[in-house]
Amino acid sequence: MPERLAEMLLDLWTPLIILWIALPPCIYMAPMNQSHVLMSGSPLELNRLSEEQRILNRSKRGWVWNQMFVLEEFSGPEPILVGRLHTDLDPGSKKIKYILSGDGAGTIFQINDVTGDIHAIKRLDREEKAEYTLTAQAVDWETNKPLEPPSEFIIKVQDINDNAPEFLNGPYHATVPEMSILGTSVTNVTATDADDPVYGNSAKLVYSILEGQPYFSIEPETAIIKTALPNMDREAKEEYLVVIQAKDMGGHSGGLSGTTTLTVTLTDVNDNPPKFAQSLYHFSVPEDVVLGTAIGRVKANDQDVGENAQSSYDIIDGDGTALFEITSDAQAQDGIIRLRKPLDFETKKSYTLKVEAANVHIDPRFSSRGPFKDTATVKIVVEDADEPPVFSSPTYLLEVHENAALNSVIGQVTARDPDITSSPIRFSIDRHTDLERQFNINADDGKITLATPLDRELSVWHNITIIATEIRNHSQISRVPVAIKVLDVNDNAPEFASEYEAFLCENGKPGQVIQTVSAMDKDDPKNGHYFLYSLLPEMVNNPNFTIKKNEDNSLSILAKHNGFNRQKQEVYLLPIIISDSGNPPLSSTSTLTIRVCGCSNDGVVQSCNVEAYVLPIGLSMGALIAILACIILLLVIVVLFVTLRRHKNEPLIIKDDEDVRENIIRYDDEGGGEEDTEAFDIATLQNPDGINGFLPRWGLPTQWWEERNPIQTACF
Ligand SMILES: *[C@@H]1O[C@H](CO)[C@@H](O)[C@H](O)[C@H]1NC(C)=O
Ligand SMILES: *[C@@H]1O[C@H](CO)[C@@H](O)[C@H](O)[C@H]1NC(C)=O
Repeated sequence: MPERLAEMLLDLWTPLIILWIALPPCIYMAPMNQSHVLMSGSPLELNRLSEEQRILNRSKRGWVWNQMFVLEEFSGPEPILVGRLHTDLDPGSKKIKYILSGDGAGTIFQINDVTGDIHAIKRLDREEKAEYTLTAQAVDWETNKPLEPPSEFIIKVQDINDNAPEFLNGPYHATVPEMSILGTSVTNVTATDADDPVYGNSAKLVYSILEGQPYFSIEPETAIIKTALPNMDREAKEEYLVVIQAKDMGGHSGGLSGTTTLTVTLTDVNDNPPKFAQSLYHFSVPEDVVLGTAIGRVKANDQDVGENAQSSYDIIDGDGTALFEITSDAQAQDGIIRLRKPLDFETKKSYTLKVEAANVHIDPRFSSRGPFKDTATVKIVVEDADEPPVFSSPTYLLEVHENAALNSVIGQVTARDPDITSSPIRFSIDRHTDLERQFNINADDGKITLATPLDRELSVWHNITIIATEIRNHSQISRVPVAIKVLDVNDNAPEFASEYEAFLCENGKPGQVIQTVSAMDKDDPKNGHYFLYSLLPEMVNNPNFTIKKNEDNSLSILAKHNGFNRQKQEVYLLPIIISDSGNPPLSSTSTLTIRVCGCSNDGVVQSCNVEAYVLPIGLSMGALIAILACIILLLVIVVLFVTLRRHKNEPLIIKDDEDVRENIIRYDDEGGGEEDTEAFDIATLQNPDGINGFLPRWGLPTQWWEERNPIQTACF
């Protein structure tokens, strides 16, 4: 019976046995899975087997190496038979035991150690583990001694379509510009299928759209989504929900499927022009509104968004184009009308403007649809405002002669209330600008009068501010600057430009110029000064001196003869009449003092003092010594005096000196103005006690004396 069975098996499996059991002794593996049995006969399997057989031929091993297949997800009532191990060692002589080890041996795969049948005792998942590597060995039943070297083989888990396609990156979002042409690519999506991509169609996906038609289409294989309608309008519908399905088994029935959603947002293009919400706007504005003030806003709506909705606003026409301007507010996307020039209710009470809003970013594709702009009319009504008085001139310049009589009218300012209900106006002088109250103003008629006498030589300009106040509303005030210029009147007589001191040499020659004098006049005649000089009428024929007018308006005094003598006459007084060219002219008499002096041969003044002259020329030695002694004594006295003063009280001189020094220092300091000039008391410099001033004042310039003859005078 066993022989017959063997024969039957042989008959049945001849092709396989030929292939698989090439060399004795060997184990052959008979795949028992029916589908696999059949599959193992396929040309591919045959090729592989023959290849393996060649390897076996070479290695001369006892195991037939092969792989077994088992379907995943099999869940029958019994464990599934995966295959059978067999060795062709003589089974009769020895009892053989099959041992299985490796991946899942004993836990997933169980072997019947007698028959060599391998069963899968657990459900398998190819997507979890696609193949198992196991080792089989035939051992002696009793001794457990290996009869063959171990042989490795693989159990492959065979795929079934147990995984649906999945969109791992969904849900998707995509954008496409509105107004796109039909077939514009939007995006593409990808589904994945965990099933075996190389075996069968379990992972062969086909895409379709379940929702979102007729707006979008999908390419079945590439899953590229395209627009299916031309010119979709964002302003009509902005967002579309597309449901996409991926189906495996090439889309055939029985396949598994997965879906995802794609949200398509249409992006804006500038396909809509701006449109004013109103065709007519009314604004009103008080006439006294500050320049630059926003008077009103106009807005052109645009169905587009972002920069496509941006419009620039312009005033394109109207009777107020010069007075108003419009600026575009990009934020609010409106236009702001502002005042550019002052309004005057009394002149014009309303304005009409034509404003235009034009899209900034035009899309040339749509510009043929018409102008991307709109216009509206703006009516602006000017409202009356209580305005301050307005002077007839922004400034006034008045001129007045310095001899103008008190209370005489210098000039007049006028102002009016520009309002319709014109209020009377009262004028006043801003007293901060006329601290000396030089002027008065008639509150009613604005006539400015002189309050105190003017003196051009003191102040040429009196710049004051006049205030105009509305009687009905005292808060309505205007100010105007009034510059009053004092005009010259010949009210000052000319006089010597300085205090001249003339010296006449005893040894001088006739016709010699003793002194040149010039005159000055505080007045400011238009054509400049021209002076006339003359001697007193009774002195016209002065035997001693004569005068000669020079080109430059100055005067030379000449000696008429020689032989002037100090002994005879020490000082001559020469009165000179100086008169100006005013109308009427003014004149004054200035007296020139001429002192007779002893001079060297070349005319250098040496001594003008009579006593010095009295000293005999051949002064005795004793007299000189006496003079010297006198000087020394005087010096000693002075020194003693000073020292005593210092030791006693606070020394007056030194104190004064210190004061002077301090005052000078303070005076030299910068800043302080009037306070500093107070600090500087010129009197302290002038030695009122005469402590330094033992120089007698003879009418000669002190300086001159100090320079030339201090000792002489001191000793006098
Ligand atoms: C007064 O105003 C006149 C004219 O504007 C100007 O020339 C002059 O300098 C001003 N004088 C003073 C002291 O401000
Ligand atoms: C001229 O000088 C003489 C003496 O030198 C004097 O007596 C006479 O008064 C002088 N005349 C005048 C007008 O000063």
